[in-house]
Amino acid sequence: MADTYSEIDPPQRLLMGPGPVNAHPRVLRAMSADLLGQFDPEFTAYMNETMALYRRVFMTENRWSLLIDGTARAGIEAALVSLIEPDSTVLIVRSGRFGLLLTEIVERLGGKIETVDAEWGEVVPFVRIEEAARKHRPQVIACVHGDTSTTMAQPLDGLGKLCHEIGAYSYVDATATLGGMAVETDRWGADVVTAGLQKCMGGPSGSAPITISDRAADFIASRKRVEAGIRRNDIQDGNRTRIGSNYFDLAMIMDYWSDKRLNHHTEATSMLYGARECARLVMEEGLEARFARHRAMGKAMVAGARAMGLQVFGSDEYRMSNVTGIHIPDGVDGEKVRTRMREEFEIEIGSAFGPLQGRIWRIGAMGYNARKHKVLITLAALEAVLRAEGFKVRSGDAIEAAREVLA
Ligand SMILES: Cc1ncc(COP(=O)(O)O)c(C=O)c1O
Repeated sequence: MADTYSEIDPPQRLLMGPGPVNAHPRVLRAMSADLLGQFDPEFTAYMNETMALYRRVFMTENRWSLLIDGTARAGIEAALVSLIEPDSTVLIVRSGRFGLLLTEIVERLGGKIETVDAEWGEVVPFVRIEEAARKHRPQVIACVHGDTSTTMAQPLDGLGKLCHEIGAYSYVDATATLGGMAVETDRWGADVVTAGLQKCMGGPSGSAPITISDRAADFIASRKRVEAGIRRNDIQDGNRTRIGSNYFDLAMIMDYWSDKRLNHHTEATSMLYGARECARLVMEEGLEARFARHRAMGKAMVAGARAMGLQVFGSDEYRMSNVTGIHIPDGVDGEKVRTRMREEFEIEIGSAFGPLQGRIWRIGAMGYNARKHKVLITLAALEAVLRAEGFKVRSGDAIEAAREVLA
């Protein structure tokens, strides 16, 4: 008989890395609800509610606030392929892995790349973005809000004003911050912002919320070519270059999410249920309360790590409130510590990429996991593992320091 394997029964891990984190049980329950056809009126009502909820989560009035089916990277690709025409000049703000990812995607799209860079662990001062934008006159400025690879959050005040002045569109990757730090789409004046669910939104990966300003939507519509098999008289093509991807064609996707209900793809029903529940949880808690919760947990993690005698990575001023980078002390095997955290305590913490690989751990406290007991348990486990690995730690100091922050 062929092996049927056993039913999925994963261990109960506490996911305290840079994402994914444990999904809120309400999100998992919503995802197990019965399926509906994509044009069922009950389902299209859920789509409309999801749009309304994500407007509030993205802090925007944008009509177009919807979901791209796929992981956060799908949202990034949809935004960039729809905004960038071959030979467009794109200014990319980079200070970590995800700025490099934007470069990689723009290269594949044939965009002309200009960059403004900072070391990993720093952010790019806004004046440098302004200088570069005035010099290169890009069609698009692309940035990352919170780059989880470095744990730093890039200030974006003034982005929209700058783009209006030079006639550019702006794109922001807020995958790691949406639902945990203020993603102020309208106040920044950002044109397209994308995210994922698996970090501060407290869901699984697989759906990418996106919001699109009216001016960006008009531009994207001017690149529209409806695919042959679903052409209709009431949907007109645009006259600019065709968007270089069918699946990520935001022009058709917006028509799908509008009353026109263009039959573009089959919406990922269960992911939409999950994304809707994530947003409902965010709005139930309230944005400010949620940001404050993430801030408090981040501060507690930093205080606990420092009290243990560990050095926290990067500047306090620009640190994301939901992920903390911690230097691996000399003489300590970082991977061994991660393995012991997992095997002895069922806790996952993150390693790092690129120049930070082997130098820092990344510990997250996001979404459903940005909670006092989870932060304290993680610190206590880290202390125990470090002690077992021969690193001198004064017992209980980390917990005391974190408790004090949270008192
Ligand atoms: C800032 C940022 N952008 C993009 C991504 C890519 O997300 P995904 O793996 O869901 O495609 C991540 C994931 O860690 C991220 O932190």
